[in-house]
Amino acid sequence: MPRAKFIAGNWKMYTTLEQARQLAQRVAQGVDSVLAQKVRVAVCPPFPWLLPVAEVLRGSAVALGAQDCHYEREGAYTGQVSPYMLREAGCQYVIIGHSERRHGLGESDEFLNKKLHGALRAGLHVIFCIGELLTEREANQTEQVLQRQLLGGLAGLTAEQLQQVTIAYEPVWAIGTGRVATEEQAEHAHAFVRRTIAELFGSNAAENVLIQYGGSVKPENAAGLLKQPDVDGCLVGGASLNAEAFLAILRTCL
Ligand code: PGA
Repeated sequence: MPRAKFIAGNWKMYTTLEQARQLAQRVAQGVDSVLAQKVRVAVCPPFPWLLPVAEVLRGSAVALGAQDCHYEREGAYTGQVSPYMLREAGCQYVIIGHSERRHGLGESDEFLNKKLHGALRAGLHVIFCIGELLTEREANQTEQVLQRQLLGGLAGLTAEQLQQVTIAYEPVWAIGTGRVATEEQAEHAHAFVRRTIAELFGSNAAENVLIQYGGSVKPENAAGLLKQPDVDGCLVGGASLNAEAFLAILRTCL
């Protein structure tokens, strides 16, 4: 069985409420039943727009995701959002370990691992991001970095739990820069991730795990990336803020 394709839009800290509603509406309208059979689709708006966007997406083939969560169910954690709250708000997905949090906010593999476990406990499907910095790639450390992030991030997970995890390979130098990884670079990294998953969780888990590519995905480069054997989808930032561009990326799966 070929693996399903899964494409998610990460809206980051963009959109007004009205823009978020309209964007969700256009995406939901564009994902017809034919497209929905070919590709799993999620959008991840900022926290305050989750409920209104959930309302817009209701009954559509587009799922809702959040961009981060805390690991605890509840507690004295000012400013944090519990994964259980996300579930109640209608989320099926949560992004964990995005480079803008790893590198921008200093979140460690250990901390991300706690979040991953917390999100799974709450019944969320996790999009777990990994990826090397440009300096690490240039020093030929890409595989070492990915291996460390996978070992640390996925620690303590069972193969069964891994079924609720999608890995997003996002080379940091490609995020928001317009500098996309070549198809060969992406495939090479994805194949390495899959081999590492096989070592950690067995070949069955490795065959089934979805690995998204992220970093400057656009309608023009999506098809080439998505036809690589180990690229099972994309995590789209900038281009997901434009409904037409996002739908064009989705349609490359047809
Ligand atoms: P980008 O962002 O598509 O704007 O490069 C990708 C991401 O951060 O997930």
